[in-house]
Amino acid sequence: MAIKRPSGRGFDEARKMDAKVGIIPNADGSAMFSFGDTIAIAAVYGPRQLHPQHMQNPQTGILRVNYDLLSFSVADRKKPGPSRRSQEISKVTEWALLPVLNLEGFPNTVVDVQIYILQADAGTRTAGINAASMALAHAGIPMKNLVCSVAVGKLDTEVAVDPDNAEEHFEGGEGHTDMPIAKIGNTDEFTLLQLDGKIPPEKFTDALNMGNKVCSEIYEIQKNALKKFTEVEA
Ligand code: CDP
Repeated sequence: MAIKRPSGRGFDEARKMDAKVGIIPNADGSAMFSFGDTIAIAAVYGPRQLHPQHMQNPQTGILRVNYDLLSFSVADRKKPGPSRRSQEISKVTEWALLPVLNLEGFPNTVVDVQIYILQADAGTRTAGINAASMALAHAGIPMKNLVCSVAVGKLDTEVAVDPDNAEEHFEGGEGHTDMPIAKIGNTDEFTLLQLDGKIPPEKFTDALNMGNKVCSEIYEIQKNALKKFTEVEA
């Protein structure tokens, strides 16, 4: 018999998404993105002179992402400061965003992106990428497009999009497979694909298709949030 999602959502149904641009006045660019109870904020500073000087690249500016899951964002207080997990997520976020950026006009500089997770209920790296992408656009960094990100995966044998934390701990049947993806706007170019668990090839394609559909929704939400900000400012 087919299983039901613990959250009660349809298998192709993401949580309620929300986005806002311009939330941190002192940053050069900032944005918030949420999937249900997962809330990420991103602040962009730069391009600014990179120190120490030996790290500078005279050909281009560099992107430096720092992802942080705040202590109070999870049920068991998280020890403050960096961890292996936060370093991995910072790095994959950098790789997910770099393909849309053009930093060649800013040699010897760095663009710093700070991502803070205020509340975590799974999908924090994907919410962080969505927020960071909008914050970079808000900062006026030259970009060829936005990056849209969501996690897809499998609960037992059923492909499901945007799992929450309870679903990430699903233990029935084949258990849970988690596959965060990121892609460039409405294109077929993927900039992130991670896989935790197992998935057969035909379900992999189903999962990507499901993720694509939600990424298109995210793209609209991001563009609307950016538009709304410019209308308020005008
Ligand atoms: O958040 P994301 O799904 O991108 O990454 P994850 O490493 O698969 O973490 C899944 C979830 O586990 C997080 O979103 C949190 O809800 C939870 N978590 C936690 O409760 N305490 C931690 N120290 C790390 C993660």
